[in-house]
Amino acid sequence: FSKKEQQMREAHAFAVEFYHHILMNTEDGEQALNYLLERGFTRDQIETHQIGWAMPNWDTLSILLDRKGFDLEDMAESGLIIHKENDNSYFDRFRGRIMFPIRDENGKTIAFSGRILNTNGDDAKYLNSPETPIFHKSQVLYNLDKARASIRKTRQVILMEGFIDVLAANRAGVYNAVATMGTSLTSQHITKLKRLVQQVTVCYDGDNAGFEAAKRAAQMLHEEQLKVEVSVLPDKLDPDEFIRANGAEVFKNQIIDKPHAYIAFMMMHAKRGKNFQFENDTLQYIQEVLETLKGDTSPTERDLYIRQIAADTNISPEAINAQLRKLTADTV
Ligand code: UTP
Ligand code: MN
Ligand code: MN
Ligand code: MN
Ligand code: MN
Repeated sequence: FSKKEQQMREAHAFAVEFYHHILMNTEDGEQALNYLLERGFTRDQIETHQIGWAMPNWDTLSILLDRKGFDLEDMAESGLIIHKENDNSYFDRFRGRIMFPIRDENGKTIAFSGRILNTNGDDAKYLNSPETPIFHKSQVLYNLDKARASIRKTRQVILMEGFIDVLAANRAGVYNAVATMGTSLTSQHITKLKRLVQQVTVCYDGDNAGFEAAKRAAQMLHEEQLKVEVSVLPDKLDPDEFIRANGAEVFKNQIIDKPHAYIAFMMMHAKRGKNFQFENDTLQYIQEVLETLKGDTSPTERDLYIRQIAADTNISPEAINAQLRKLTADTV
């Protein structure tokens, strides 16, 4: 790392301790601490992940960083503070937020995500550090440092949408979960995963956005030759909400241990909102599923799923098979 990057990392380490201290030991942090405990966080987990609280004040951290001798222009570049150019002053980026340190693969904090306590206002629920010399959103997988051992052992990684879901999974005894930082999955994320495992279970939020994002992620992972499975959550719940509603055991036994195979998930996606009483829906469904099947699938998979499509739509397996051959021929 360059000298400047080293300074940015040191400042983050300092900020982690400061925010954490405010949360745990001061009256300023009380409300946030209670919020976390009510959400099911344990003190142990708050310690392990060094969760903190940024007071609502404008320049608490800026003043401290200055006093510690950090170069404030570098600090502005690190995302911790913001340079107000017109009167050449600095103020804190994170104010009145629960602070979740974002660590790199070696466990060093390189960024933060701050959650507001009350989502009724106009402010974004989560505020993340911007792109900086030490934080590249398109590369970071939350919790990869702590999950790595479990990922290796189970030969499986569970990919979630929210880092708060990863923390909830941890409390439920699932330690091989990671999350992207509010961005969609990138090939750089996948490269990181491929160094550790051959199989990924996607477990995104159960709402429509999560379902669509899961499809995109599953397709990308499949194209990168990883074995993909998708755990689908019911009732628009996300992993955290599901665990709170149904408990850890149900989450593990019915969701994590019962994922849909890639093609089965893609069929489920294609089926959503379609009514096979209508010709158009039927034809479109077949077309969508065959697009998936014409890819990297084995003859037995094809046979299995063609029978299912036939049963769904009341079209003969022979016709579906003929269509698949035609599609495959067209692309060669
Ligand atoms: P969600 O909206 O699903 O949040 O966003 P969540 O994880 O369920 O959080 P809680 O339970 O309401 O506290 C999923 C992810 O999208 C990014 C964050 O990375 C979050 O973990 N996000 C969301 C943002 O970056 N900013 C936002 O304002 C909202
Ligand atoms: Mn500046
Ligand atoms: Mn969501
Ligand atoms: Mn949630
Ligand atoms: Mn969510």
